[in-house]
Amino acid sequence: MSSIVCHPIIKNGIATDARIKKQRPPPLVVARPRDLIQEACERLVLSDQQLRRIMVLMEKSMEQGLSGKKAAVKMLPTYVDAVPNGTEKGDFLALDLGGTNFRVLHIKLEGKETKMTGKIFRVPESIMRGTGEALFDHIADCMAKFMEENNLKDATKLPLGFTFSFPCEQDGLTRGKLVTWTKGFKASGVEGSDVVTLLRDACHRRKDIDIDVVALLNDTVGTLMACAFQENTCQIGVIVGTGTNACYMERLDRIPKLAGYVDEHNVTPEEMIINTEWGAFGDDGALSFLRTKWDDAVDRESINPGQHLYEKMISGMYMGECARVVLEDLAKQGLLFGGHSDAISTPHCFPTKTFQKTYQILEDIGVEMITANDCANVAYVCSLISTRAAHLTAAGIAMLLNRINKKHVTVGVDGSVYRFHPTYPTLLDAKIAELIVGDIEYKLMLSEDGSGRGAALVAAVATRLKEEKLAAAATASER
Ligand code: BGC
Repeated sequence: MSSIVCHPIIKNGIATDARIKKQRPPPLVVARPRDLIQEACERLVLSDQQLRRIMVLMEKSMEQGLSGKKAAVKMLPTYVDAVPNGTEKGDFLALDLGGTNFRVLHIKLEGKETKMTGKIFRVPESIMRGTGEALFDHIADCMAKFMEENNLKDATKLPLGFTFSFPCEQDGLTRGKLVTWTKGFKASGVEGSDVVTLLRDACHRRKDIDIDVVALLNDTVGTLMACAFQENTCQIGVIVGTGTNACYMERLDRIPKLAGYVDEHNVTPEEMIINTEWGAFGDDGALSFLRTKWDDAVDRESINPGQHLYEKMISGMYMGECARVVLEDLAKQGLLFGGHSDAISTPHCFPTKTFQKTYQILEDIGVEMITANDCANVAYVCSLISTRAAHLTAAGIAMLLNRINKKHVTVGVDGSVYRFHPTYPTLLDAKIAELIVGDIEYKLMLSEDGSGRGAALVAAVATRLKEEKLAAAATASER
């Protein structure tokens, strides 16, 4: 879902929407002073002290995850232990499932150049929440259509990177069991199963397509890889879109649960990308000290109550709903809309999308008696929710930067909230700068299409390493 909360343009406390000027009804209630609203929303403003506490708690949860103990932050090994070196080339397929759309891509890597042809297919809600078999049949069907249309059906099996943007417990680059669905998905029979096998089975069922999955990856990993391809200091990949998550390059000696790990060539890599799945931070109660009654309401009404609590305070899927429940509460307290809360009480009626026309949006959802003050106050609440989201994300990124503790680090970032929200990137950057310690220099870089290009890169690196290792083995046996 490309969805975000933005702020109406406000000048001198008045929302400057042309429609408001023309159509604004005369204020029927006496304007309430902003400080009453400010007071009611106090808990949405996080202090640096609270953010630093989050950093400590998140790192603690991460260490638990890395040690293999039960932890909210799962810290999933990705088995990606090398970044692109710029020589990757060839033809690849990429599948990208992570939201309401599913994409199939044909990618040609040629040096720093990438050529992509792709097609986007919708994943209807009935499929997202139906059976796993129907979901994977739908994926296979979309793939078959794409291959047919692009004359790829008879091509030799192209190496395929499968970006599956949900928490997966991997035990190798081409296998991974879904830990739990997120972002509104609930297809039955997939949790606990290997998603690559489910995909292969679906292809076998229809018999007309063959696939060679060489990599299963999370979108954060694709983001890191796509960024690393441009900028070799990239160590962190972050997504803030429908959901949120981060991955980073971790030293193997700091991953106790992989003690003794050797790859299929008997080599212990120095580092590996860890998919943190930070969206679940707080699921063990660690965030209770700052969660609000509104966060509880958003969680309660969601498809997965009690799960992915940090994500629900940050990402695009929940921002609008979070703003809505705050507005409903303020209306019920008589602080907005002349005390009328009916229209704003319908769950999910307040879209998390770009709006510079507060009045129009409120009118569209049926709010009556909207004053200019209401518009300004709604904008204010939205800005609080967005700022809190940016600051919570900043705490996570700053913690990772402090942990990696390298002089120059690039953070690859993608996702609709980061891309399209007018103030989120600036708020994020400014807060990270305040929270890092020492003389770390970092930069945030928009990492274009990690789920597509990144998938091809992971597939390409895997193919290159395999070929290099096979060549080395052949040379050794000739000696
Ligand atoms: C998923 C992650 C994913 C993130 C961003 C979260 O809901 O658990 O695996 O990376 O969304 O798409």
